[in-house]
Amino acid sequence: MPTRRHVISSLAWSLAGLALAPSRAAFAADEMQTRPVPASGERLPVIGMGTADSFNVGDGPEDREPLREVMRRFFAGGAALIDTAPSYGRAEAVIGDLLAELNLRPRAFIATKIGASGRAAGLEQFQRSLRLLRTDKVELLQVHNLVDWQTQLALINELKAQGKTRYSGVTHYTESGHDELARVVRAARPDFLQVNYSVISRGAESAVFPLARELGVAVLVNRAFDDGRLFARVKDKPLPPWAAEAGIGSWAQAFLRFALSHPAVTVVIPATGKPDRQSDNLKAGQGPMLTAQQRQSLIETVG
Ligand SMILES: NC(=O)c1ccc[n+]([C@@H]2O[C@H](COP(=O)([O-])OP(=O)(O)OC[C@H]3O[C@@H](n4cnc5c(N)ncnc54)[C@H](OP(=O)(O)O)[C@@H]3O)[C@@H](O)[C@H]2O)c1
Repeated sequence: MPTRRHVISSLAWSLAGLALAPSRAAFAADEMQTRPVPASGERLPVIGMGTADSFNVGDGPEDREPLREVMRRFFAGGAALIDTAPSYGRAEAVIGDLLAELNLRPRAFIATKIGASGRAAGLEQFQRSLRLLRTDKVELLQVHNLVDWQTQLALINELKAQGKTRYSGVTHYTESGHDELARVVRAARPDFLQVNYSVISRGAESAVFPLARELGVAVLVNRAFDDGRLFARVKDKPLPPWAAEAGIGSWAQAFLRFALSHPAVTVVIPATGKPDRQSDNLKAGQGPMLTAQQRQSLIETVG
């Protein structure tokens, strides 16, 4: 049963969302939309890219070639934000290699994380990230899953003052972490928060998004496909009848557009190691946002 708070907040943002969604004619058909980071006004392309698992690969051409194409298409499609972490195996090193090979570092908005206990361990981890990413600074540095968050946010703010990161952030990835995430955001006022949100995992709508809007915190959405599980739920189901009119050509685009159609969301970061899926995901950044009725239709079809 949804709580009263949940219903009121859903209603309030649905209305805000409807007001936010411009008409279809207002969008260039092949242009990635952008949204502002509240702390600065800097505009970010709404589709980003995650790298957990998908970029944790070896050095051989059979592993690297598809990712080089994933990366090439990402930037060609107008995207910029790449989310990674020291705990994603070889992902930071692979990103660093590919950005250098393709000469794309200047166009990338790199978001990495600190997931360590204690200041010295946090700093050492960040210095290692910079080496692997082949850069001297990142755009966003986040506390991974709120681990030792007071220490690490203080460190991140120091690094921000030194120009080593442009923005600070905190992340979580489960519904059970939302209340603590909200407490930390209220106490520490980071520039960004990152949270899970999907058609079937909508807890952030009541626990996190209203706070992000109130405080002016940018929101990155992870797990918009629920780690891929959403695709199993719609296997053999046709797209909703309104999909073509909304410019949606696949279930992946429907799931990503669902996340983006919440007005608190700044960027969604789907992960794939497959070039054609990257092209598919990027298309979700074009066209109008979903109406409240279209969102409800997705919830009913997938749920
Ligand atoms: N605590 C944290 O900070 C935290 C936690 C979780 C996630 N994250 C970040 O968020 C990113 C995204 O989350 P996630 O990787 O857990 O899950 P996700 O993006 O919800 O789902 C990824 C899965 O979807 C599949 N997929 C991607 N595009 C597809 C498409 N167009 N059609 C069909 N299948 C598609 C991928 O398979 P293929 O690779 O085979 O295409 C993969 O199995 C992570 O990579 C990470 O950067 C952060």
